[in-house]
Parts: sequence; C-alpha cells; structure tokens
Amino acid sequence: MRILVTGASGLLGLNFCLQMADSHSIVGVDRGKLNGTPFELLKADLLDPGACSRLLEESRPDAVIHTAAMADVDSCELDPEGARLLNAELPGELAAVCAKRGIQLIHISTDAVFDGSKDGTYTEDDKPNPLGVYAQTKLDGELAVLSVNPEAVVTRVNFYGWSLHGTRSLAEFFFNNLNAGKKVNGFTDVIFCPMFVNHLTETLMSMLGKELIGLYHVVGTQSVSKYQFGIEIARRFKLNENLIESISIEGSDLTAPRSPNLNLSIHKLSTDLGHDIPELSAGLKEFYTQYVQSYPQKMRSYQHI
Ligand SMILES: NC(=O)c1ccc[n+]([C@@H]2O[C@H](COP(=O)([O-])OP(=O)(O)OC[C@H]3O[C@@H](n4cnc5c(N)ncnc54)[C@H](OP(=O)(O)O)[C@@H]3O)[C@@H](O)[C@H]2O)c1
Repeated sequence: MRILVTGASGLLGLNFCLQMADSHSIVGVDRGKLNGTPFELLKADLLDPGACSRLLEESRPDAVIHTAAMADVDSCELDPEGARLLNAELPGELAAVCAKRGIQLIHISTDAVFDGSKDGTYTEDDKPNPLGVYAQTKLDGELAVLSVNPEAVVTRVNFYGWSLHGTRSLAEFFFNNLNAGKKVNGFTDVIFCPMFVNHLTETLMSMLGKELIGLYHVVGTQSVSKYQFGIEIARRFKLNENLIESISIEGSDLTAPRSPNLNLSIHKLSTDLGHDIPELSAGLKEFYTQYVQSYPQKMRSYQHI
C-alpha cells in the first residue's frame, strides 16, 4: 500500500513511517527537519495554498494518515489563529481532496475533546465539551473532516514513544528527568489511557485494512493517572520512583486547561477490528526494548543538521 503521512517529523508520524517503511511504500511530508530516512520525503508547508492537492497529485497514495497539527496544548492558547488554521481548517481541506480522489483518510484527533468530568468511560456517543483552544480546534477539525468526507476515519488518540528530539512524549519526560536523577511532579488527578505509538501504528493499519469509517476512540486499554504512568516508567527502566512527587493539578500554573478524566472506551474499536488492543504493560515493555536497542539514537540520526 502507498501511504502518505503528514507530520513525518512528529512523534506519531516518524514512528509510523519507520515502522511501516519495510512493508509499505511510505511518503512522509515534512518541513525540512528530516534527513536520510528509509522512506521517501516530500517537503511542504501544509498551510501553503494548494499544498494538499499538490501533495496528493505528486505522491498518488492509496491512503493518507494526517498526523500534522499544532499538538502542543499550551502553544495553541498562545496562538489561537495558528491553531485554528492547522487543527480545524487544514483537516477539512485535506479531507475534501481525499474524498474527490477516492483516497482513504485517517485523521488523528484527540481524547482532549472531552472536558473530563464524566464519572466512567467516554464512548463515541458522548458529547464533547472542549476546554481550551487545542481541544476546540481539534473538535472543529473532526467535524470538518466528517462533514466533507463521511468515508474518512477520525481517531481520538493518546500515545507515547520515542521522538525525533527526545522530548515530545510524557514517557520521555519521565525517563529523561529520572535518568538524570531529577525530581518531577506527577498529577494524581489527571487520568488518561496511554497507547504505545507502535501499537497505535499497527491499529491504524488494521483500521485501513478493515476499511473502517467514522469516529473511533483509539487509546490504550488501561486508564492511569499521570503519576502512576511515571511510576510505571520508573519501574520498567529501574529508575528511582521516589523522585516522582504525587501532586494535584489544582493550583498548577499550566497555560492550557487540562481535562481530569480522559478514560475512553475502545469497545467499538476492538469489536469492529475483531481483536484486542495490546495492554499497557506490553507497550511499556516494547518502549523499554527500543531503548535497549538504541532506537532513540536511531531516531535522532534522522534530524536534519
Ligand atoms: N502526543 C499525544 O499524546 C497526542 C495526544 C492526543 C492527540 N494527539 C494528536 O496526534 C497527532 C500527532 O501528534 P504528535 O504528538 O505526533 O505531534 P508532534 O510531535 O507535535 O508533530 C506535529 C507534526 O506536525 C507538523 N506540522 C506542524 N505544522 C505544519 C505545517 N504547517 N506544515 C507541515 N507540517 C506541519 C510538524 O512539523 P515540524 O516538525 O516541521 O514542526 C510535526 O511533524 C496530532 O494530531 C495531535 O493533535 C497527540
């Protein structure tokens, strides 16, 4: 299958491209941050007029995985117009071009469209209530995609893994600090369902294979607090878990609001795929194995210098 991946330098994009490069024809879109990758690269700023049409004309893919976004929640609060263009408008434009050309599209959205006040798990039928600019613009992006391209897939995700610069994911945050012997805070009252990025990649490929359409929650099987997640990272890497201080998000000085309970149900996903999603422990084990096998260094070797 020929797959065009936007955001190829990002946490999801780069891991996806590297994992699928041997078995599929992968074309990554980046803005010049990558070099020497084992997959084809097309350089583009997706906000340039006509960029989506040009990229699809040049690459002629069977499917598009749209990961590019303004994904840093605090940056979105500081630049709401940039967030709107990238997270809300661009997905609709890309989805329209994919619909016109009959190309399968998986659009990556976020668990953060919910306000996190529900007691229990969120299903795809629950009404979103975005708390900040990031969440609002991502929700607007979902709606834009499905209104112009009902055959597209919209996935609400949350994931971790190794990234190009080594600092993008929460798992890297805990690992980097604990490995340097530094104290970190972990919120005990922010719950999420982290999925290992390579499991996310496999799941997205299964979704393409099954030709699923519409809205899906694609997160890990287990909900944990950010504090617990840090503890799991410490234990897996045999680092000092006492360096993680358990704190409440109440009174923290974060720029963007955070939803406290992002426990999403993946019942629809596993039912429609016909198989289970790997457990948190399996993901953490692979995350550790990649470390032992120098995968973080390999990622960094693709940085354009
Ligand atoms: N990380 C998570 O746990 C998480 C949670 C929920 C949802 N998500 C969603 O998952 C998706 C991927 O997230 P991520 O963590 O992989 O993001 P990321 O690491 O921040 O990567 C974002 C990517 O988008 C690219 N991009 C931004 N503006 C662009 C533009 N104008 N033209 C071309 N490319 C542009 C960036 O390129 P540059 O490198 O050139 O800036 C980068 O490759 C996003 O849609 C995000 O909202 C992520």
